[in-house]
Amino acid sequence: PLPHRVKIVEVAPRDGLQNEKAFIDTAIKVELVDRLAAAGFQNVEAASFVSPRWVPQMADGAEVMARITRRPGTLYSALTPNLKGFEAARAAGVDEVVIFSAASEAFAQKNINCSIAESIARFEPVAQAAREAGIRLRGSISCALGCPYQGEVPASAAVDVARRFLALGCDEIDVADTIGVATPAKVRAVMDAVTQSVDPARIAAHFHDTYGQAVANIVAALETGITIVHSSVAGLGGCPYARGATGNVATEDVLYLLRGLDIDTGVDLDAVVDTGQWISAHLDRKSASRAGNALAAK
Ligand code: HMG
Ligand code: MG
Repeated sequence: PLPHRVKIVEVAPRDGLQNEKAFIDTAIKVELVDRLAAAGFQNVEAASFVSPRWVPQMADGAEVMARITRRPGTLYSALTPNLKGFEAARAAGVDEVVIFSAASEAFAQKNINCSIAESIARFEPVAQAAREAGIRLRGSISCALGCPYQGEVPASAAVDVARRFLALGCDEIDVADTIGVATPAKVRAVMDAVTQSVDPARIAAHFHDTYGQAVANIVAALETGITIVHSSVAGLGGCPYARGATGNVATEDVLYLLRGLDIDTGVDLDAVVDTGQWISAHLDRKSASRAGNALAAK
């Protein structure tokens, strides 16, 4: 059975833009976040408080947060790899901080420069500080469905990190297909395994669309009881530490899918299509959203 309602976490301002080579003006980032909030998303991933040496594109997170128009009903999230990032996110008024590790040791080393176990130890003070500050905590598991360095990743590896995130007090946990290699059978196996340890209501599907499987994978995830889906307007994105991986599944494609399945999201598809065309024009490229381009051409 499919759910009647799905929460979409719109990640374009962070996952979508972090990999852009040319620095994007803060004003454009601010407008993107504001347009997305206005389209009705309950949750927008707006910034990243990571090392600017590692991801220079995200260096203006504090300014983005300061300049956006906060929409009541929208939660603004940001990535925080350590206590330094957490303090900056808190000062910027972020509603939810995201800690992130991986189901693959090799990817953890490349992305956050430490082992999975070390990352969990590093997140402990972040989790405690978030609790004390009353800030929501989310944990993201990269390469939960496949790794660019290691290849196949066993479901047990994702389950192990999910349990550790739960123990840290995460309100929500993302199962991420960082490089977009999964197919529905793999999604079913991993989601079934993870939801034995974690309430499916807390699990999010964070899928990239490299192999064109993301929409099918989302249906598979929804069938296992998942009700939170991440997507990026115009299919923007890619991880700097996952060479060749494309952006997240396009939000327009997800909204079109869910509308067809009669699943409510509270998001205005037309507004998202407009935003997808606007940001693509700004980045001087065609939108990667099939549904977005088809709807815009109507
Ligand atoms: P490190 O070099 O091992 O740590 O990086 P460090 O403590 O030695 O710090 C290096 C420098 O960065 C120092 O500056 C720190 O002060 C500074 P220096 O003294 O050399 O001038 N620094 C910071 N500055 C600002 N904010 C901070 C911060 N932390 C340190 N928070 C570290 C370790 C974790 C910091 C680094 O590896 C890092 O920032 N990694 C982030 C990588 C990243 O953002 N990747 C993309 C996001 S994850 C993703 O896209 C996957 C996801 O979408 C899910 C999926 O699809 O899989 C979430
Ligand atoms: Mg991602």
